[in-house]
Amino acid sequence: MGAYTDQFTRSLDDPEGFWLDAAQAVDWIVPPERALDDSAAPIYRWYPGATLNTAANALDRHVDAGHGDRPALIWDSAMTGEQRTFSYSQLLDEVAGFAGALAAQGVGKGDRVIIYLPMIPEAAVAMLACARIGAVHSVVFGGFAAPELATRIDDAEPVAIVTASGGMEPGRTIEYLPMVKTALDLAESAPSTVIVKDRPQVPGSAADYGWLDWDQVAADADPAAPVEVAATDPLYILYTSGTTGKPKGVVRDNGGHAVALTWSMRNIYDISPGDVWWTASDVGWVVGHSYIVYGPLLVGATTVMYEGKPVGTPDAGAFWRVISEHGAVALFTAPTAIRAIRKADPEALELAKYDISSLRTLFAAGERLDPDTFFWASEKLGVPVVDHWWQTETGWSIVANLRGLETLEIKPGSPTVPVPGYRVEVIDGEGEPVPAGTEGNIVVRLPLPPGTLAGLWRDEERFRTSYLNAFPGYYLTGDSGYIDDDGYVFVLGRSDDVINVAGHRLSTGSIEAVVAGHGAVAECAVVGIRDDLKGQRPSGYVVLKAGVQIDPEKLRSELVTLVRDAIGAVATFRDVTVVPALPKTRSGKILRKTMRQIVDGEEYAVPSTIEDPAVLADLADQLGPKD
Ligand code: COA
Ligand code: AMP
Repeated sequence: MGAYTDQFTRSLDDPEGFWLDAAQAVDWIVPPERALDDSAAPIYRWYPGATLNTAANALDRHVDAGHGDRPALIWDSAMTGEQRTFSYSQLLDEVAGFAGALAAQGVGKGDRVIIYLPMIPEAAVAMLACARIGAVHSVVFGGFAAPELATRIDDAEPVAIVTASGGMEPGRTIEYLPMVKTALDLAESAPSTVIVKDRPQVPGSAADYGWLDWDQVAADADPAAPVEVAATDPLYILYTSGTTGKPKGVVRDNGGHAVALTWSMRNIYDISPGDVWWTASDVGWVVGHSYIVYGPLLVGATTVMYEGKPVGTPDAGAFWRVISEHGAVALFTAPTAIRAIRKADPEALELAKYDISSLRTLFAAGERLDPDTFFWASEKLGVPVVDHWWQTETGWSIVANLRGLETLEIKPGSPTVPVPGYRVEVIDGEGEPVPAGTEGNIVVRLPLPPGTLAGLWRDEERFRTSYLNAFPGYYLTGDSGYIDDDGYVFVLGRSDDVINVAGHRLSTGSIEAVVAGHGAVAECAVVGIRDDLKGQRPSGYVVLKAGVQIDPEKLRSELVTLVRDAIGAVATFRDVTVVPALPKTRSGKILRKTMRQIVDGEEYAVPSTIEDPAVLADLADQLGPKD
């Protein structure tokens, strides 16, 4: 039996033993005596009774073990040309100092702190500072506009907001402070403190708004010691798109998270203390939480934090430059970034300019790694290109090729096999298992392993209805796919109204809500259509109110502006088509999937529940592929 089969089998046959063993890699204050608490099933908790501090595990323990001089975080900004390296001792000082500053502002255990920061070291410092004092951080991605920030402020009810004067996108700066001000005006909840990191490149400072300056409060504060928290206490809330406009606040605990991420760094990514590891994502996404900040630091590796793009900052060699300059042994990015590089530099001529011999593996996640991109990257880089599948909710891989455990065959198009702890199955709409090779709902039999979501923030009902009620005994992933005869999982796409644009998860429902607010629009549907670069992009179909005459280009530009202002540039909403009517079922549900199939030129079946087949036929004439 191979190491993978051995570990996977043990994780299912003896989860207590498996996860108590894994827990030994973490420094506890009160070590766990039990792994799983199933007393409130189907809601589970890991490591009841145990206590720890996550930031102390990420920093203090390495310094205490004599590794204070080892680089912990290398910040590389292609936007400003700056680079900074923080050793473990230096990062610990920064974190303890800022934790003290937060504590001086009255932030304590269990309080929420919203972090709205670009990709600067302060983002990691603020997250770890919250963890140090037992506060619960909620990072909001910088590409979201003020109303999205306001929604999160109202849901999380933070005591403090930590932000910066702004971020940088190619060719423009993004001023955060006016957005924070607008969000605070929109929100009902009123945090008592706003702390601003001043970036000289972006106008605006704390003083303009009567807020606090990061450098000042950090200089004035006494360093804070790590606070003991329960393994089951929340470490963070991360909002993610659901099928409705209201985002879901995924709650992560402290103990299970530390154990799972530590286990994953070694067994999935094959990363050891001192290795230089680079995740090219953003701290606003789960990938950034788990693998820019917590995972690499928990195992004493060096994490690279990159502010820039794969292309255009300044060219398609940016990723190769970062790998070569910092000696990264692994890169984790989204397939869309590879597609962007390939589009700009199909022959990978930029690659020849850099020595990337340190690179052992390229990891991809966030969306399906299409075989074309897989083959291109494999050929050009000459290292294994490893897909793995997970979600904000799980916080780490559900299905992966576990490079640290056993080198399994890579099948293009498949993220490989279920990770120990995850009992992955494919079932049909009635909850019956489907035969190998047949597409269905991908579900995971409960309980999920440690590190996965503990619930949704103050909304147990939505947790149950979103994930647990559809198929009792299972966690609903929202993805569809199949398992082949060899047990390899193939993830084909979402089975709900969530779409994935350039590795960013968006809800078509939230875009629809904005589009429907335009005075000329009677009703609308937004569907995720195929996009060669970004995987998918949102495409809007609107029915005008009776008697309304409007120039389609004017309508398009107004709707694009509305979506940009309400959700943010990251929604990438650019396509608007006026249609005479939307196809619906007799119960009034818009046939979004069928619309997508028509636009993408795929085969589609006319649903038996359709209200008016003529509407669908007209739509196919208007939107379908033309011969
Ligand atoms: N703050 C403000 N605006 C942001 C932003 C941020 N942090 N991130 C993106 N935006 C803006 C972009 O400037 C762009 O604005 P525009 O419409 O005015 O041009 C818009 O949001 C869409 O951004 P994006 O979808 O990222 O497109 P892009 O054309 O700028 O870049 C890629 C395309 C493929 C290079 C880029 O999407 C990419 O690097 N993707 C990788 C995604 C990733 O790492 N995902 C994490 C999961 S692993
Ligand atoms: P997020 O929560 O933003 O990480 O998005 C999670 C969703 O992205 C999943 O439910 C999938 O739909 C998609 N996804 C992420 N990784 C992969 C992958 N490796 N293969 C296929 N889909 C993926």
